[in-house]
Amino acid sequence: MGAGKTNAKPAQVKREATVTRLQADAEVNIACQDNLKFMRKLDDESMDLVVTSPPYNIGKEYEVRRSQDAYIEEQAACIAEAVRVLTPTGSICWQVGNHVDSGEVFPLDILLYPLFRNHGLQLRNRIVWTFGHGLHCQKRFSGRHETILWFTKSDDYKFNLDDVRIPSKYPNKKHFKGPNKGQLSSNPLGKNPSDVWDIPNVKSNHVEKTEHPCQFPVGLIERLVLALTDEGDSVLDPYLGVGSSAIAALKHDRYAFGCDLDQTYIDIAWDRIHALRAGTLRTRPMNKPVYDPNAKDN
Ligand SMILES: C[S@@+](CC[C@H](N)C(=O)[O-])C[C@H]1O[C@@H](n2cnc3c(N)ncnc32)[C@H](O)[C@@H]1O
Repeated sequence: MGAGKTNAKPAQVKREATVTRLQADAEVNIACQDNLKFMRKLDDESMDLVVTSPPYNIGKEYEVRRSQDAYIEEQAACIAEAVRVLTPTGSICWQVGNHVDSGEVFPLDILLYPLFRNHGLQLRNRIVWTFGHGLHCQKRFSGRHETILWFTKSDDYKFNLDDVRIPSKYPNKKHFKGPNKGQLSSNPLGKNPSDVWDIPNVKSNHVEKTEHPCQFPVGLIERLVLALTDEGDSVLDPYLGVGSSAIAALKHDRYAFGCDLDQTYIDIAWDRIHALRAGTLRTRPMNKPVYDPNAKDN
């Protein structure tokens, strides 16, 4: 399968009843398929951003727990394909948490980092994603962050900082001395969002919640899509789940590619894409501040 902009093949989608609907959607190429099979049909250097969150090998309903060596081997194969399909100016973002075995924690970013370096990729940020909800641990501190390893293939990579700036804390602050005295000291477009992102994870009462147990908040991926790609670029998620990356890509006029082994998730992904097209999909705004229940008291 070529990854050309007009080359998406909705015929890959097995649900006969929806094929007509999907044929109108030339910007989307998603399928219920193993990711190696899916990616091997994509052209070399055809994807501008590969953004994903793989299973963590912790026995979730969508994975079979295996040895750590077997898990790393699978990740290595998927990463090799991701690197092959990445454009020279492109980025790979691998979002991971911890593998946990008998109470011992194995940070997956540490385990997977060498696999990317072996391909000559360069780490640009290790983004810390913090969130408020999760398991309450009894024998260690409760986990409230995961990471995103952002790698590029070369030094000539896309980074559209102005598209993802956030409001400055003191937008009207001025230089009080020196040659710029009296002028605004901060960028009027806002500030760099930093490498620590506080974005609510998708739990029970989140507006984006589907039946997937571990879906991305769309806003998390929107920031990556806007910063690391341009309009008309191609975004691939090889562990697509319910299509949050595809939604983020399509919202900003990028092409969406992805696959998942579970037909139920792919069906939900299509439903969400159609709701997006119809203007009825609810997503949490990308830069909405996190609700602070104590703010009133303050
Ligand atoms: C952590 S979830 C990703 C969820 C996704 N980020 C979302 O927003 O819905 C990992 C997904 O990988 C899928 N998966 C596991 N192994 C796969 C494989 N070999 N090929 C394609 N998908 C796979 C699982 O079914 C699961 O939905």
